[in-house]
Order: sequence, then structure tokens, then C-alpha cells
Amino acid sequence: MLILSIESSCDESSAAILQDSRLLALETRTQTVHRSYGGVVPELAGRSHLQLMDAVVQTAAQQAGRALVNVDLVAATAGPGLVGSLLVGINYARGLATALDRPFRAVHHLEAHLWSAELSAGELPRPFLVLLVSGGHTLLILVHGLRDYHVLGSTRDDALGEAYDKVGKLLGLSFPAGAEVDRLAAEGDPTRFAFPVPMSDSSTDFSFSGLKTAVVYRVRNMSDTEARKETPDLLASFQAAALASVMLKVECALQLSGSQALVAAGGVAANSQLRLRLRKLAAERGVPCFFPELEFCGDNAAMIGYLAWKLETAGIRDRASQPVRPRWPLELLGAGDASQ
Ligand code: KG4
Ligand code: ZN
Repeated sequence: MLILSIESSCDESSAAILQDSRLLALETRTQTVHRSYGGVVPELAGRSHLQLMDAVVQTAAQQAGRALVNVDLVAATAGPGLVGSLLVGINYARGLATALDRPFRAVHHLEAHLWSAELSAGELPRPFLVLLVSGGHTLLILVHGLRDYHVLGSTRDDALGEAYDKVGKLLGLSFPAGAEVDRLAAEGDPTRFAFPVPMSDSSTDFSFSGLKTAVVYRVRNMSDTEARKETPDLLASFQAAALASVMLKVECALQLSGSQALVAAGGVAANSQLRLRLRKLAAERGVPCFFPELEFCGDNAAMIGYLAWKLETAGIRDRASQPVRPRWPLELLGAGDASQ
């Protein structure tokens, strides 16, 4: 089955071609228009998707060496995400499916992240625990199987990636700042500033806005020159507190869940310190640890196509007329969702 998949939920315009579960080509363009605004501007994101969508689809098809007329299934992200951005991707995909007289499948963005590590690792041992960390989401989910998910924890305020981006912005880094924070923190001293470890209790929920505010107050008392000089130490200390909290929650969820494997997914799963710590914890607990390849951590169409294939082969059929759903809790997927 030749699959064309499209992802456009936020600021990545992405298309992929898969032959069943095997990725043939992936073309992802991160929109640069948002950099000077310090965050994603929804209106600009929608317009950029309009400009980029045809080019990413054509490039993916060319790289795969396949003509679009041979596509058997078209899939696109239906939510959650920015409504204007989702509409561009889903309408493009539906229009193409109609023109080709092929089926269309709407995909849940977070559900696609959950399975993204399988793109390179193959089938994972179940149940597996996923730490899903991105610019918009921070979740701990136990995956028993397809459409069998148990949300163990989520953030009460900011997402982890959002905290990285906000702290990076405070210190003059451009958006999105996560990768640069990762790089600069490696040069800093994580013990230089004692920031509070958020939610250091035994719950599996997260909170990062208090930590972010603590960094804001610390920087406010510094001159510009001092803040510039201290940036690596500030970032290393922020990251140490943020990840200490994340690791507490993961440890707690591993203990509770009887998980057979530990998985990280989403943009922040690219973080080098987080990967190190998760690997160490998994080794201590005697469970295997899986990460998606870096290009499958952030938003990408490969994971959308892969999930479409999984659902298709499992015979799970959702409503073909699924509208875009900017808010679409993962818990509403499967049995009991009125839209299924
Ligand atoms: O999954 P993603 O591409 O988009 C969303 O759905 O949000 O994640 C983007 C987020 C941004 O907040 C970005 O700063 C963060 O992932 N990020 C990182 C790293 N690479 C990307 N955060 C920490 N360390 C990294 N290496
Ligand atoms: Zn995402």
C-alpha cells in the first residue's frame, strides 16, 4: 500500500511517502517566519502552509521515486493543533484523495507521536510507557496497544518545550530555543543556580511555569552583561531542575505501570540530557529504552503515515468526514468517542 501523508498542525509543513510501514521519503520544512515573533503566529502559520504544501508533497513524491497517481491512501493530521494550519493540510489531502479517487484517513497528531519510535525500531514490547514532550504537550501515557491508551500524567500549565522556549527567549535566543538551550546548557554548570524542582511529589503530573518564573526573577536581578556571561550556567541550572522533575515523574510512572519499555517522543525527546537520563533509568530498571530518530521527534509526516498504515491494517476505520479538531484529547480516541 503506497501512502501519502501530510502534517500541518503547527509550524512544520511536512509530507511523507510510505510503502506500507516503510518510509520512502520525508520532506519537512520548519517555517522560519515566526522567529522574530518569539512564538508561532497562527495566521502566519496557516499562510505559510498554503505556500509550502504543494512543494513538500511534490518533493516527497520525487524523492520516493513514486508518482502521486499511484498513491493508495492519503492521510493527514486532523488535530489537535492550530485550526488554520490543520485546515490547509487536511483540505489539500482530501482534495487530492478525491481527485485520485482514493480513501482519505484523518490522523490524531498525539497518537502519531506515540507510535513514532516504531518507525525505526519496529514493533515495541507492550505495554510501553511514552513520555511525550513537545512545545504544546507534556504527557505520560501507557500504551497497551492500538487505541488502548492510559494517560498517567500531564502538565498543569506550560509544556516542557514551551518552558525551554520561554527561558531561551528571556536570554535572547531565537524561537524555537530548545535545541540551542540543549547546546548551551552542555557548556554550563548545572549546580551554579539552585532553581526549585517543580512538583517534587509522587504525582505523575507536571508543572513548569513556576520554574520559568524563578528563572525570570533571577535574570531580572542581573545586568545585561552579567546575564549574557551567565547564560550557559543559567540554562544548565534551569535544565537540571526541569529534568529532575521529569525524571521523578517518569520513575513514578514506570513503577506504577508495569511497563515493558520506556519511550520518549515529541520535539523535546531530541534533548541530549533527557536521552542520557532516560537511558540510565531504563537500564537501572531493566527495561529497553526507545527514541525516535531525530527527524521523527519533532512534527513530521512520517509518523502520520505510519499510524495511518497501522490503523488501516488493523481494520480500524474512523469517520472519513472527520472535521479538523483543534482540541482533541487523546482520551476521546477509540470507544466512546462520538466522532468515531
Ligand atoms: O514536537 P514539536 O516539533 O512541535 C510541537 O508539537 O510542539 O516540538 C517542538 C518543541 C519546541 O518547544 C522546541 O524548542 C523543542 O521541541 N525542542 C527541544 C530540542 N529540540 C526541539 N527542546 C529541548 N532540547 C532539544 N534538543
Ligand atoms: Zn507534535
